[in-house]
Amino acid sequence: MAASHQSRSEPLPLTDVRELLRFYADAGVDEALLDEPVDRFAESHAATAARAPAAETNTASQTERWRRTEPAPAPRPAAPPTLSVPDEAQAARARDMAREAASLDELRAIVAGFDGCNLKFTAKQMVFADGNPQADLMLIGEAPGRDEDLEGLPFVGKSGRLLDRILGAIGIDRTSAYIANVIPWRPPGNRTPTPLETEICRPFIERQIELANPKVIMTLGGPAAKVVLHANEGVLRMRGNWKVHTTAAGLTIPAMPTLHPAYLLRNPAHKKLAWRDFLDVRAKLEELRG
Ligand code: URA
Repeated sequence: MAASHQSRSEPLPLTDVRELLRFYADAGVDEALLDEPVDRFAESHAATAARAPAAETNTASQTERWRRTEPAPAPRPAAPPTLSVPDEAQAARARDMAREAASLDELRAIVAGFDGCNLKFTAKQMVFADGNPQADLMLIGEAPGRDEDLEGLPFVGKSGRLLDRILGAIGIDRTSAYIANVIPWRPPGNRTPTPLETEICRPFIERQIELANPKVIMTLGGPAAKVVLHANEGVLRMRGNWKVHTTAAGLTIPAMPTLHPAYLLRNPAHKKLAWRDFLDVRAKLEELRG
């Protein structure tokens, strides 16, 4: 989350600054998005002042209408909900651009050049993938966090270290797995990506799966399962059950939804559930390799 700064003629005393910083940190404001502070209070005062005469005129003419007992204008029909409706223009652009990619390298360059998702402008860099694109196993998370944003690689923070340990226990490391996220840019303050942002980025991860063409997919956490497997159940109900991801060309890839490593760090008692899922995946890989 980012902070804005209230304009004051006097600088804040040091103790107040500490209090303010503590308040911001408790509220999740943990980094600056811009080099210079933006005085949002001054901006909104200016905007209010600019609107004031129009507002007065409106109020006056409304009062005048009521006085003349004119029928009130019919209420406007409710606007259609916009949150669940993707920004079709950007999502369609992303679909067209993703289709153009003939290789993962081309897709990486296309995503890097795409400017239709606002997350790109607050992230430090794109986080496209890590590991071996030829691997039989592809793991897909939701979106990069702070460490990933700094390093430009998925799952390199605390949850990534847990993921590496779990993978190691089934004999897999980053030379034998390919790792990506549904969203390639860190949402500010690690907030949940909006449905709009997710729909805009969906064509890229779908094409990334198609081009990597793994034998088995694992989705990490509920949001990744929703996008990759079109699943609506909760992840605790869904995990442990084989699903299928169908590519645009109609190829089907077996997919195992499992719990997100960050969730496992908060709920260590559930590690045994994820452990079963990873063992199932190892068995499936052995079966498919024959
Ligand atoms: N969580 C994710 O979903 N992806 C990452 O890359 C890191 C944390």
